[in-house]
Amino acid sequence: MKSQHKSIVIFALMCCCAVLIALIFSAIDVWGDDEDYIDEAKCSRSCRVVLVENIPEDLSTPYKDTVSLATGLRDLLDKAHRSVEIVSPWWALNSTEYESKPPQAKQGQILLHLLMRLQSRSVSLRVVSELTNSSELKALTQNGAEVHYLNMTALTKGHINSSFWVVDRKHMYIGSAGMDWRSLSTMKEFGIIIYNCTCLVLDLHRIFNLYRQLQYKEFLPSIWSKKLNALYNRDKNLQLHLNNTEAKAYISSSPDDFCPKKRTKDLEAIKRVIQEAKTFIYISITNYLPMLNRSQPKYWSHIDNMLREALILKENIKVRLLISCWEQTDPLTLNFLWSLKALCIESVSCSVEVKFFIPQMQSNGYLYGINHNRYMVTDTSVYLGNLNWVGDEFVYNAGVGMVISQQVEQNNSTVVERMKTVFERDWHSHYSKTLQPNKIPACSMHTVKEQPPSSDAV
Ligand SMILES: *[C@@H]1O[C@H](CO)[C@@H](O)[C@H](O)[C@H]1NC(C)=O
Ligand SMILES: *[C@@H]1O[C@H](CO)[C@@H](O)[C@H](O)[C@H]1NC(C)=O
Ligand SMILES: *[C@@H]1O[C@H](CO)[C@@H](O)[C@H](O)[C@H]1NC(C)=O
Ligand SMILES: *[C@@H]1O[C@H](CO)[C@@H](O)[C@H](O)[C@H]1NC(C)=O
Ligand SMILES: *[C@@H]1O[C@H](CO)[C@@H](O)[C@H](O)[C@H]1NC(C)=O
Ligand SMILES: *[C@@H]1O[C@H](CO)[C@@H](O)[C@H](O)[C@H]1NC(C)=O
Ligand SMILES: *[C@@H]1O[C@H](CO)[C@@H](O)[C@H](O)[C@H]1NC(C)=O
Ligand SMILES: *[C@@H]1O[C@H](CO)[C@@H](O)[C@H](O)[C@H]1NC(C)=O
Ligand SMILES: *[C@@H]1O[C@H](CO)[C@@H](O)[C@H](O)[C@H]1NC(C)=O
Repeated sequence: MKSQHKSIVIFALMCCCAVLIALIFSAIDVWGDDEDYIDEAKCSRSCRVVLVENIPEDLSTPYKDTVSLATGLRDLLDKAHRSVEIVSPWWALNSTEYESKPPQAKQGQILLHLLMRLQSRSVSLRVVSELTNSSELKALTQNGAEVHYLNMTALTKGHINSSFWVVDRKHMYIGSAGMDWRSLSTMKEFGIIIYNCTCLVLDLHRIFNLYRQLQYKEFLPSIWSKKLNALYNRDKNLQLHLNNTEAKAYISSSPDDFCPKKRTKDLEAIKRVIQEAKTFIYISITNYLPMLNRSQPKYWSHIDNMLREALILKENIKVRLLISCWEQTDPLTLNFLWSLKALCIESVSCSVEVKFFIPQMQSNGYLYGINHNRYMVTDTSVYLGNLNWVGDEFVYNAGVGMVISQQVEQNNSTVVERMKTVFERDWHSHYSKTLQPNKIPACSMHTVKEQPPSSDAV
């Protein structure tokens, strides 16, 4: 009798344990999200790609086989049948606060209006944001949007700088432009829209899901759900077709804490792209500063080192940096750039050229054409990211990146060739000024009038 009791007790205990273990695992897996309407094995990898740009009207810079960003985003919304998911650092599309606003500013209002109408088309809208008091997000919520709040201060002491869209888990946008009327009017922006590409989009959507899981959390989980792991990375690229041309691609992410197993970090992606370049590395970036500038400033060597290594070790490598010259340009940037240039002095086997893209001041006080681009193109690949090349951004802020590698076809048909053409257009434009010895451009003269209202800036 006694041993029977004992075995009943043991059995009961075992049941409890099993239930507990099941609960723990299901709790972790609840973290994932339904990917029910896409079968991973059957996902589509024959994709269309469109390069999008915003070029302010007053800049005499032609579109180079690129589509205007406003048109591209509107087209994406037209294609939506089920869901639109957006991550943006800002929500400032409604520009009515601005008195002397430029006429193109209405593009922002049009986009906001289209987003508010999604519900009437039975398309769901989900947004991830760190803004607690944005009037636009409130208006969208009233129109059926789901807004997921991320407390970035608590999670990483940083900000969300990610800027991407996922539409029907099939189409995507990623680029420098956020949901800001200036991105559709006065700023110079660059992005990529990819259609019919469930394989890649599914992976990007996992990052959206990861953000959603962090809603209202004040700390990061120690284990991420398996459903948030990366599907592709720098060692296992997705093989796909972009406009019928063979390509390889993957998505990267920042900061490190936001990278579950197998997800390539942005810095690793940048490193790989630089390492694989053979003849040239062209970089178009708003700010370049290898410094961490929290309480105690520190040299942040990662990207600077990658460039130095490339210059020294690669035969005949040509590096070009196109940087913005505006109020946020730290004077130290120039010193670091000179130091890079110094590496190739008297050397025939490498070259570093630096230019500043100088925005134009209009009579109404608006600054046109701040080069907000954030990409790198080499002879083999492109890296398109959300972050500035500044230490603080990679360490604290959330961003995503995308790497595309392609064989050069010699007929301007690949993304890599097209982006090179875009870069060269900007490089040779008369807004780009060469860094002159002993002459520091007064970038701080170029100040942006009117920041977004403080109520929208967290
Ligand atoms: C939220 O925004 C509204 C107007 O947009 C403002 O009146 C209010 O003070 C803000 N609240 C907080 C807590 O910032
Ligand atoms: C846009 O701004 C105008 C004027 O301030 C306001 O009337 C309108 O409600 C705003 N729209 C949204 C969606 O916030
Ligand atoms: C975000 O987290 C910080 C630090 O934990 C906390 O002080 C703050 O109140 C949180 N913000 C919101 C809106 O919950
Ligand atoms: C996406 O695929 C569908 C069905 O195969 C096709 O009808 C549509 O034109 C494609 N879209 C684009 C932008 O290529
Ligand atoms: C670094 O911090 C100092 C002091 O807080 C500030 O004056 C400076 O503008 C910062 N530089 C950058 C690049 O953020
Ligand atoms: C990231 O976001 C913060 C706060 O919104 C902003 O100050 C910073 O300029 C952003 N950086 C980029 C690269 O957009
Ligand atoms: C590719 O584009 C560049 C820049 O627009 C042009 O100079 C070149 O001739 C083009 N090459 C071909 C093969 O079309
Ligand atoms: C570019 O050239 C490749 C082969 O070299 C060819 O397959 C492809 O169709 C061409 N693309 C265009 C747009 O002409
Ligand atoms: C891909 O094809 C579309 C039209 O189908 C075209 O608009 C776009 O410019 C092409 N993209 C590239 C990178 O060639």
